[in-house]
Amino acid sequence: MKNKKVITSTFLQISFSELNENDQKLISNAISSLNDAYAPYSGFLVGAAVLLDNGEIISANNQENVAYPSGLCAERVAIYYAGAKFPSIGIKTIAITAKSKKFVIKDIISPCGACRQAIAEYEVKQEGNIRILLHQSDNSVFIVESISELLPFMFKSQDLKNY
Ligand code: THU
Repeated sequence: MKNKKVITSTFLQISFSELNENDQKLISNAISSLNDAYAPYSGFLVGAAVLLDNGEIISANNQENVAYPSGLCAERVAIYYAGAKFPSIGIKTIAITAKSKKFVIKDIISPCGACRQAIAEYEVKQEGNIRILLHQSDNSVFIVESISELLPFMFKSQDLKNY
């Protein structure tokens, strides 16, 4: 049997100025945080800001290390801090933005695979979606309502519980 199937991904593209006040605020937090990134090796500064159900905002940035794999992306620094500090509070939204000290970013700003997997874990944990705001270099914003739009066929902890 051969079955070709297609998975689609839905996202909204909107300009920053058209966003509501809360989303603008969250992205502004990510942008401010990016300037504090510790990225002496790549010069690639990433900012992330997480909005929790209790209204708390946690901002973070990428932290690099001379032993490269020991560094951590901004998204995971932010989301792990949220998980550590507010373990029982849900995550509503995460905003992500980036800037390079070396070049003008033309590619789409979007979380790496490991960060997608980390965000997916928190959706499973809280049994609810996490909105993701991807702030682009042209000041437009891509919005997805769940990590499933960015990580189809994701590996879930449920798969482990079957054993
Ligand atoms: N980086 C992030 O912070 N988030 C991502 O989703 C992709 C990459 C960081 C890691 C490293 O410090 C720099 O960007 C270059 O890869």
